[in-house]
Amino acid sequence: MSNAIDTRELRNALSTFATGVTIVTCLDAKGLPNGATASSFNSVSMDPPLILWSITKTAYSADAFINAKEFVVNVLTTDQVDLSNKFSRSGEDKFNGVQTELGIGDVPMLAGAATRFQCKTWATYDGGDHEIIVGQIVAMDSSDKQGLVFYRGGYAKAEQL
Ligand SMILES: Cc1cc2nc3c(=O)[nH]c(=O)nc-3n(C[C@H](O)[C@H](O)[C@H](O)COP(=O)(O)O)c2cc1C
Repeated sequence: MSNAIDTRELRNALSTFATGVTIVTCLDAKGLPNGATASSFNSVSMDPPLILWSITKTAYSADAFINAKEFVVNVLTTDQVDLSNKFSRSGEDKFNGVQTELGIGDVPMLAGAATRFQCKTWATYDGGDHEIIVGQIVAMDSSDKQGLVFYRGGYAKAEQL
């Protein structure tokens, strides 16, 4: 079937939906840390506590996440724009100079994040050019730091109305 939806129009339309920004981390098969900036994070279920996010299949870290038994979703704060940009560049060695603590399965958790959700991989699903990864939250820690927002293609701050 041909795609009747123009990709740029679709990106613009989707960008009207404000999201938070996360960096999802895991270990690959060799035990090396992987991480990717992701705004596709969302809540799924309260009981059991499930969340999801999706990773583009062409990402450097796609295989690592698809095969990982555990991962951590680090919800970024307004102070972590540089970190968000760093982890949105493809490749290895993103953890150089980044302060981390060990979480579930020795997966690195980012210091200073607003919230860290430590997850066991619950299921992965084919989602077109992305893989949908569902995780069960097994531990979390949260703070009152201000969460970073992504809106219309740029970073923003949330303001209470
Ligand atoms: C704000 C923001 C949100 C992003 N959200 C996602 C996402 O949800 N899923 C995804 O696959 N890539 C997302 N990206 C792009 C990835 O961060 C980018 O593809 C990165 O290169 C992945 O790292 P890797 O190639 O080293 O695995 C986002 C980038 C930014 C700046």
